[in-house]
Amino acid sequence: MKITKAVIPAAGLGTRVLPATKAMPKEMFPLVDKPAIQYIVEEAANSGITDILIITNRGKGIIEDHFDRIPELEKNLLLSKKNETCDIIKQISYISNVFFLRQKEAKGLGHAVLQAKSFVGNEPFAVLYGDDVIISEKPVCSELISSFEEFGLAVVGTQKIKDSEISKYSSLKVKKIRKNIFRCDDMIEKPNKNEVMSLYAILGRCVLVPEIFDILENTEPGNGGEIQLTDAMRILAQTRGMIAVEYSGTRHDVGSKFGTAKACVQIAAEHPEIGNKFKLFIKEFAKSL
Ligand code: UTP
Repeated sequence: MKITKAVIPAAGLGTRVLPATKAMPKEMFPLVDKPAIQYIVEEAANSGITDILIITNRGKGIIEDHFDRIPELEKNLLLSKKNETCDIIKQISYISNVFFLRQKEAKGLGHAVLQAKSFVGNEPFAVLYGDDVIISEKPVCSELISSFEEFGLAVVGTQKIKDSEISKYSSLKVKKIRKNIFRCDDMIEKPNKNEVMSLYAILGRCVLVPEIFDILENTEPGNGGEIQLTDAMRILAQTRGMIAVEYSGTRHDVGSKFGTAKACVQIAAEHPEIGNKFKLFIKEFAKSL
């Protein structure tokens, strides 16, 4: 079955990047000249997704505004002969069909995904975490969709994490199928040292099957008192098996200070307009470090 729907949970409180997130959703952090969530919506659209549900909450209304048209601004840009900028602004509203739904309480990523039940219906769907921007040649979401099409099992995107860091992430029990593709039969969220199954963690992307909703409905709050998506995926992995795809590309967690800073640096350095100037600045700046 072709995957055409995606869910982007973007209703987290963003406490790791306060005070920036006091009034501004982290998903709207500008990475040079585009908000983080636009990169994610573009990745989904470039992976064949036509319908995207963004899970928001109070105070995240500007995400909706960003994907809407602003006729006054467009008129103003045309009057000042900024036709190209006007086109860029307009196109944002047509990247994909974007829908919004509010998570009434921030009860965790699993709870956020559960809100998508009626939007998704009885189809497999992609989940792109709203604070994980991945810069890669091939959209990571499309790599996961290809694996779903090949194996008919739910898929998680993964990369290796440092030993010292794995307890902040999830850990996957994996068995190599080929190159960057693994079978995954178990996983654990934020493992203690003796619970680590491998250094492969779930990072920002997955493709799920509709059975996940029944599991989520019966998932008790786990780590941090939140309904954890990993706890529900664990049951899926144990009962049906899942696939893990080690993707290439650079992931930036804009829900963290370090992630936001390095996303800005990479995007600025590769930017067609300011890239060369920025690289000169960085080289000069590096000398002072
Ligand atoms: P995170 O755990 O990174 O987000 O969730 P958070 O809760 O904002 O993090 P803190 O407060 O800095 O620790 C990953 C993704 O899931 C969304 C977030 O917006 C983020 O995109 N999320 C998380 C929800 O949509 N709802 C929630 O209840 C929790």
